[in-house]
Order: sequence, then C-alpha cells, then structure tokens
Amino acid sequence: MMKNQTPLSAARDFERQTFAQIPDGDRPLFHLTPMVGWMNDPNGFCYYKGEYHLFYQYHPYSTIWGPMHWGHAKSRDLLHWTYLPAALAPDTDADAGGCFSGSALPLDDGSLMLMYTGVQPAGTGHKELQAQCVAIGDGVDFTKLAENPVIGAALLPKGYSTHDFRDPKILRGKDGRFYCVVGNRHETRQGAILLLESEDGRGWRFVSELDASRGELGRMWECPDFFELDGQQVLLTSPQEMQATPDGVFHAGYGTIALLGDYDEESHRFTRRSVQPVDVGLDFYAPQTVLAPDGRRIMIGWMENWETLNGAPRRHRWYGRMSLPRELSIREGRLCQQPVREIETLWQDDVRLTGVRLAGKTELDGICGRKLDLTVTLHTGEGTCRRLEMRFAKNERCFTVIRCALSRGELVFDRTNCGSTRDIPHVRSIKAGPKDGVMTLRLILDGESAELFVNDGEHVISSLIDTPMDAQGISFCTDGELTMDVEKHILG
Ligand code: FRU
Repeated sequence: MMKNQTPLSAARDFERQTFAQIPDGDRPLFHLTPMVGWMNDPNGFCYYKGEYHLFYQYHPYSTIWGPMHWGHAKSRDLLHWTYLPAALAPDTDADAGGCFSGSALPLDDGSLMLMYTGVQPAGTGHKELQAQCVAIGDGVDFTKLAENPVIGAALLPKGYSTHDFRDPKILRGKDGRFYCVVGNRHETRQGAILLLESEDGRGWRFVSELDASRGELGRMWECPDFFELDGQQVLLTSPQEMQATPDGVFHAGYGTIALLGDYDEESHRFTRRSVQPVDVGLDFYAPQTVLAPDGRRIMIGWMENWETLNGAPRRHRWYGRMSLPRELSIREGRLCQQPVREIETLWQDDVRLTGVRLAGKTELDGICGRKLDLTVTLHTGEGTCRRLEMRFAKNERCFTVIRCALSRGELVFDRTNCGSTRDIPHVRSIKAGPKDGVMTLRLILDGESAELFVNDGEHVISSLIDTPMDAQGISFCTDGELTMDVEKHILG
C-alpha cells in the first residue's frame, strides 16, 4: 500500500487499473463476474434509487479467496451490470479479519445501510470472533459506525457460537422496526437462524431462534434470508456439511435449503411446515433475494460451491460468477424459480418447432449454441418412449447430458464428459417426471454456465461446465417414439 492510501482506496486503485486490462469479451454475457479477482456470495442485494445494487464477497488482489472486501455493481435489468468501486475493505478493529457477507437496506432519509459480519482475528486466549457491523452511505461510499460491532457476543444467549455467527440479512418489519436474521451454530442444535430487533439499526436485542438444523440439515447455517411469499413464510439458508438423505432429496455437503412455514409476528415464532432443496445443481450457494418494485421476489446465488471449486482452472483475471437471477413463487407448497423475465430482452434468432417426432438419435436444424435459452416440452402420453437423453455443449470429445427416465420420474444431470479434468462430483439426480403427460426442460446456457429449470421451475439444477466454446452441439436420443415442442432463442 502506498503512503496516504487506505485499504479501501488501495483496493479501488488496484481494481480500476486491473479492470482496464481485461478484454471486454472475456466474460459471460449476462452472469455477473467480479470486477477483478475473486468473488463469492452475493451481498446487499437491494433496489435503491431506481436501480438494483448487488455487492459481493470480493478479494480483488487474487483469484483465490483472501481478506474479504465487498465488491459492488448495479443494474437496471439484472442482466447488464455496471461496476462501482469496492464498497468495503477490512480496515477497522471490528473487521480486521474480513468484511464477510451481509445485506443492504434503503433508509427513509435516502441513505443505504449495509449490515455485514466483521471478523476479528484470533487473539490471546480467544478464537477468531464474528460479530455484526453497520456502514451507512450514499450508494457508492459508506462510513462504518464507530460503535461497531453493533451485534456482538454479549447479545447471544448461552449455547450459540461467537465464532460461527455471520451473514446478517436486515429487514424492515410491518411495524416499522428493524429486524435481522443471522446464521449461527448452536452447541446441540447445530445450524440455527437467529432473529434480532432494533429501533434504529444501531442498538440491537436478541429476539428468538427461528429454526435450527436439529442435527439433520447441516452443522452451520450460513447466509439466511427471510420473507413472505404467496401467503407463506420462507426461510432460506445455506447449510455447511449436510448429510445426504436416503431418499436422494438432499445431497451431501454444501447446499441451499428453503424452510417453508408460518411466522407469528407477535411472538416472533417461525413454524416449519416443510423443507426442500433450493437448487440441486453442482454450483449454487448462498443466495439472496430482493423485492422488486413490481412485487416480484427475485433471488440470485453464487454459482459455485466450496467443495467443487478447489483446483478449478483460473483462465482470467477474475474468478467466480453469480447465477442468473430468478423470480420466486410457491406452487403446490413448493418454492419454484423462473428465470427473470428480463431475459426475453436478450432473445435473438428465435426458432419454434411444434410436434417434432423423435425416435432414436436426432439433431435438429438450428438447435445449437452456447448462449441460448432453450425450452423443450415433452408430450409423453403420445408415444412409446420411456427414456430421453439430451446432450448439449457437445463436440467430438465433450458433452453434458440430461437423462430422463420418463416412466420412473427420474432426471439425471451429468457433466462427467464436459471436459473437466477434476475428480469432483459431476452428477446430480432428482425425482422429476411428466405431469399429466407433459414435462418441460428449460436450459439456459451462457458459455460455461448451464441452468436447467424443470417443469416450470419446480426443480432447478445450476452447474458450471468446463467445456471449450467450440462445443456447440445439441442432440436428442430416445428409446421409442416421442413428440416434443422446441423453443430456442440465441441470447445476445
Ligand atoms: C458463505 C460464506 C459466508 C461468509 C462468507 C465468507 O459462502 O462462508 O458464511 O460470510 O462466505 O466469504
């Protein structure tokens, strides 16, 4: 760091200079990547003064995780992003070990409040501490409160961890008060989400534990979000170290779950009615949501996973990306996701085919590409087909495949042959099949990212594919006759 520089001004100088050296075409089309260096979780996703703002966990100086800063970008349509200067750097006693994940809340006076986890490095006789901090600003520059951390160990009842205590999502209650949900790890109940309240966002009080893993859904619950959707209350969290369930619904390791239930605003009690995985892909974690001005609840996630990223090739001066933002809804008691409708503004070169008859191996004219939005609607009541395979991002050596066992209602996503040379999980399977003789698969490709929305977003599988860009082919293979409709749009 040069004289007269602060950690934040040094990061801003560094990112500006390095960014200028990155060619324009060196990024995905509409998936946000860090300005430079490393990105993980989305932070501070909010709508502020007519634009969406998205901050992110950021290490500008390298493409691997390091002392956490907050990167910053804004957008009007959630697809085209403009970078803003880094928002936070670890530069106070309360956050010298890193500015970990958190959230943003526009205030009545027009300013923007950021709430994040300040990490205090281990000292004599104590482990690293995590506590919650606040910074307030104008949407570009933020001032950290002198009294940080505003939520520290002293507010935690016995049994909760002061070491695994992070990722505050700040909310405004219907009563006008400030609330926040924070991830924690309880001695016996393991992953837990805590609720705290405040009059002004500065002085906080512990209210309740909203829910906990109870030894079943992971050791530590990270990155919570809490909102009402279609008459139900949704608690999102990303557990660490989940055990796979014998029914195959939850996979082992890191993932994101949605707890659906009821919330009593008087007693601040959350009653869980059901739990489901949010995105069963190989690369999706730590999502955050925003309420759009038109009432849509929009979610964006980090398109990675802590267990699969080690050793991933670094081909650029940036590493990491966000998922495609999705619109959330609840249908038949299930959290569903659809790509944000803004994606239609990128549609070009549309192909629509109806009543295509498949039997055996088929490639269809005009159906190929690596930046596309492709929907196939399978009419399974009309033929003899029991198995369908769809291969994409395909050349002579590489492909990724979606296999549907239609009669059994099983779908497998398999990127084993995508080109990756790493011995990491490459396969995910889910229980999903036709409903009333119809099944839809919507696949969105943006170079190295593949996001599959099954049956209008009842299931989503988001995964990276380490496949050369010349692998553009798409093919279908069935074990009998099948009729399908195809809608394809190149994205540009
Ligand atoms: C989740 C997470 C958060 C933490 C951040 C650190 O991916 O582990 O819990 O705040 O990453 O970068």
